[in-house]
Amino acid sequence: MTKILITGGCGYIGSHTAIELLSNPEIEVISVDNLINSSAQTADRVGQIAGRNMKNYQVDVCDKEALSEVFEENPGIEGVIHFAALKAVGESVEQPLRYYQNNLLSLINILDCCEKYEVKNFIFSSSCTVYGEIDQLPVTEQTPTKEAASPYGNTKLVGERIIKDFIAISENVNAIALRYFNPVGAHDSGLNGEDPINKPNNLVPVITRTASGMIPQLTVFGGDYATRDGSCVRDYIHVVDIAEAHVKALEYLMEGKNEDRYEYINLGSGNGVTVLEAIQAFEKVAGLELNYVVGDRRPGDVGAIYSDSSLAKEKLGWEARRGIEEMMASAWKWQMNLNEGVAV
Ligand code: UD1
Repeated sequence: MTKILITGGCGYIGSHTAIELLSNPEIEVISVDNLINSSAQTADRVGQIAGRNMKNYQVDVCDKEALSEVFEENPGIEGVIHFAALKAVGESVEQPLRYYQNNLLSLINILDCCEKYEVKNFIFSSSCTVYGEIDQLPVTEQTPTKEAASPYGNTKLVGERIIKDFIAISENVNAIALRYFNPVGAHDSGLNGEDPINKPNNLVPVITRTASGMIPQLTVFGGDYATRDGSCVRDYIHVVDIAEAHVKALEYLMEGKNEDRYEYINLGSGNGVTVLEAIQAFEKVAGLELNYVVGDRRPGDVGAIYSDSSLAKEKLGWEARRGIEEMMASAWKWQMNLNEGVAV
């Protein structure tokens, strides 16, 4: 059995990746998640969908001693995927120290454990936020990173740098930072998806909750950008595609296919979709009209960002397979299951 430890295995992307990892009977998945922004039921859902369980330790990755115990109890871990982090941009502006403490200390602790327990392969959840204000589209891995617009974004930028400095002196570890664009959607079964405990700010949960009547009306943030319909362009990517990319990235490292000991790879679809197009795709697959208005711009938003995803294809043999309608249909199926109590 190949033991893989994931932090944040009950979170949105972590749980979908756990399902994909568990589909390989040779892999054992150990999760560390303190459940501050997720629920223990997610671990049950993962087990239900995958047909076998991951083991979740309710441990804070910032607690070095408790984290070390997980490694002691599970000797021979071959790979770590570090998802666990706080990720609300607005909240990070209000609570910068909490974000720096949580996101950076957890990263330092997990890297320390990787070195101590001789884990060879490390994958970090990064974000396209590291590119900041963009001058040229699409964004490649050669696009320079810029000063981050928020403390959250800075934890990803500084996190990538911490890994770089660590890899330079590490005896054992090879690493990849996966820079996600906009992960959305849910598992095709409709039994696992995004369920923000706090008020959602991201577009797709706001769409599905507006359609469910939980939010009275959606505001499209800005109709005067220099885009084809005036609303912002983003590179939405199905969460199951993202999960599959993690499995491929892990295999790539474990098979020693990496050229450098630390590599950066964009995970996007390569397609820009406007907010209004995303809403239309939702309306089409859900067969209803969404109550929305076009309002003011949201401070901190960039007008357009989308990826060049050729490096992921070249190195990992991965590309996004699911389009915007599939993303919306799966998110809606998940939301309806939540509404009807089929999923909890
Ligand atoms: C945001 C973060 C990004 C983070 C990502 C995590 C910012 C500036 N960026 O990306 O760092 O990695 O979430 O998922 O916050 N929109 C509306 N109405 C809404 C909600 C969103 O029009 O009610 C629009 C936004 O203006 C944006 C698009 O939908 O153009 C996507 O927004 P969102 O889902 O919040 O993602 P990002 O802002 O792209």
